[in-house]
This record gives sequence, C-alpha cells and structure tokens, in this order.
Amino acid sequence: MPELVGLEALKREAAVRAVALVESGMRVGLGTGSTAKYAIEEIGRRLAAGELTRIVGVATSEASDVLARQVGIPVEPLDPRPLDIAIDGADEIDPDLNLIKGLGGALLREKLTEVQARRFIVIADHTKLVSGLGEKAPVPIEIARFGFLSTIERLRALGLGGRLRQPGAQPYLTDNGNYIFDAALPQPCDALTLERTLKGTLGVIETGFFLGMAERAFVASMEGVQEHVR
Ligand code: 5RP
Repeated sequence: MPELVGLEALKREAAVRAVALVESGMRVGLGTGSTAKYAIEEIGRRLAAGELTRIVGVATSEASDVLARQVGIPVEPLDPRPLDIAIDGADEIDPDLNLIKGLGGALLREKLTEVQARRFIVIADHTKLVSGLGEKAPVPIEIARFGFLSTIERLRALGLGGRLRQPGAQPYLTDNGNYIFDAALPQPCDALTLERTLKGTLGVIETGFFLGMAERAFVASMEGVQEHVR
C-alpha cells in the first residue's frame, strides 16, 4: 500500500480499527467517501490475505460498489435482512455521535443501509468532531428534481440558508437522480426537531442528519485513534 501522510494516514488508521470488527460470514454495509474507501480497501486486503471469508458487501453508492468489486468483495443489493455491521465516514460528529453525512452525496443510500445495520461504526479524522451539528458543515438535503425551486422556497421558509449543490453548469445529481440542497443551520440547532420538520416537507426525500444511529466512532488524530462510544 502507498505511504500516506497527514490526514490521509489518520483516516486509514481509523478505517483499519473499524474493519478489525468485521468477522467472516458477515454482511457489511460499505460506506462512501474518502475515509470509507480505506475501509473497503482494508476489507479487500483481509479477504485476499485469507483473514476473512464469506463476506458480503452492500454498497451505499455506485462508486463504493465499483471499488468493492475491484478489491474482491462480493456485492449484493440491499434487501430486508439486517446487516451485521456498517462502516462509514461522516462530515460532523457531535458528542452523542449524532452525525451530519452526505457531503459526498450518498446520504439516501447510506441511511437506508446503515439503519439496517446491527452495528453502525463511524470512521473519521479529528476535524469532524463538533460540539453541535451544523457548526462547520451544512446539512445536505436530497430533494426531488421535479419542482425543486418550489421545494427550495419551502426550505427557505423554514429559515434555512444555503444553496442548491451545483459544482458546474448543472446541479449535482445523486445516484438516485435527485438534487441536493446544502442547508446552513442556525446555531444552536435542534437537529431532531428540524429533521422531523424536513421529513414532513413536500419535495424533501432525505436529510443528512443521522441521529441516534451510530454505535461508536473511531476518530484519528496525531495522538492516535480515539474510540468514542454512544
Ligand atoms: C458521503 C458521506 C461521507 O461519509 C462523508 O461525506 C465523509 O466523507 P470523507 O470521509 O470523504 O470526509 O456522507 O455521502
């Protein structure tokens, strides 16, 4: 494996700690993003080394599906059976392990997958720790393309700032064919109340709030990997 430095090395360290929880025969939710990528690679490495057998992966994005197959993880679609474990990154982690996710755009498939996991393990570097959600990152909100300007009006009427995600000439399109509105959160933010309100807002498909879902987080810093348990 290539030598990594700085934050990248920390992210891989956190991923390796989480993948140590994976055992042969497990059905594993595979996250999305630059930290989850290290976890997928580590599962592939352990499979190739014969440390793991009979692993089935459920990918939370097209990109993770492709990577998982490349490193030799058999991938199946999500079905109603529980997953033994899911491992994924996060954009913000509060002291109770509530999360903001979805800056990588995979929030809907991530939430569908991770809610079915008996154990949802978060991996990150220390820059993702916050005292309250919304402190550093916007919350991504996946919205339907049809009528998206009307949906954005409804979001603004809730007092949310922010903007439609548009990295180029066209809006960003999720794997599900939807758009994302990156909402700036008022501080302090009552995430649970806002999540309920958003889920009742026409045109909103899913939010990047992952509240009460994570069991533990492996967070890497220069002092090593800290384990945070809910
Ligand atoms: C993708 C996600 C990612 O897990 C999140 O954005 C963190 O990514 P990274 O590990 O690259 O910082 O939620 O939808």
